[in-house]
Amino acid sequence: MSPLVRFHDQHPVSAGSLHAELLEGLTSTPKYTSPKFFYDRRGSELFDAICEQPEYYPTRTEESILRAAAAEIAEVVGRDATLIELGSGASRKVRLLLEALHPLCYLGVDISRDFLLDCTHRLAVDYPWLEVHAAWADFSRPMSWPDGLTGERPVAFFPGSSIGNFTPEEAENFLGGLTQLLPPGGGLLIGVDLIKDRAILDAAYNDAAGITAAFNLNLLERLRHDFEAEVEPSRFRHRAFYNEVDHRIEMHLVSQCDQSLRLANECIFFDEGESLHTESSYKYSVSGFQDLAERAGFEPRAYWTDCDSLFCIHYLERAP
Ligand code: AVI
Repeated sequence: MSPLVRFHDQHPVSAGSLHAELLEGLTSTPKYTSPKFFYDRRGSELFDAICEQPEYYPTRTEESILRAAAAEIAEVVGRDATLIELGSGASRKVRLLLEALHPLCYLGVDISRDFLLDCTHRLAVDYPWLEVHAAWADFSRPMSWPDGLTGERPVAFFPGSSIGNFTPEEAENFLGGLTQLLPPGGGLLIGVDLIKDRAILDAAYNDAAGITAAFNLNLLERLRHDFEAEVEPSRFRHRAFYNEVDHRIEMHLVSQCDQSLRLANECIFFDEGESLHTESSYKYSVSGFQDLAERAGFEPRAYWTDCDSLFCIHYLERAP
């Protein structure tokens, strides 16, 4: 553990509750799993590799917006904030913000412990003036900020359009929960993927190098390694497509034959062609997302997009 980082263990996972959550989804009709099960170490590495694929525009577009608007964002957000990154991962994006905002204190929150420790350590080394904290927590569940953060005004940073991996109802509840953690004037800088031409979306989740397919299939590897499931990943195929009615990309693992998966003494049958829904990635218009944020108790303050209208960064403040 890094001596440069203050670590806060907020006990995000108990093996029993994860097993129960998995079983609930796998025994439902249709079958589903939460996208959080993607992110073991290998899954996090594959996600980083997805972000480098030419078809996957969100990461580089969000980064280019941050780069172009950094000074303006600093003006709007202010320079006295405590910056709290939700799902800190290996993000380069927060570095752009740290350099523009120069906060006293940074807190990274992530469910992947090893990744969190590596990344916050690297930030502490690269920014010796910054007080760095790491909270090992599941921010999709109710949480609190750890004690001992320096600075008055928490500003949460939730990049990457991870909000899109919640349903709109879950997203509203999640944002509502955040407003409870922020004092009036506290803010949220959030990256949101925009509704666009379906060809661009379909390509982004079906990259030619097959990295997204490997990311999706790695879920089954993880079930084997971490949950002792008996399952043969080669008997499933990656499928991703844009659902224009619900404005979401859907990712599925489609069974290539009649087969069964065994998890914790439970035998789960798949028919040939049956699919396990592993992720939805919702896309929003600018005003559609602002409406959702307002229903959750935020006031939209500003937003920035790229010139092709692919992606949007919103700045929201907790309503007084
Ligand atoms: C993390 N999340 C915002 C990504 C997305 O685009 O929904 C996860 C991802 N799934 C497939 N490719 C990327």
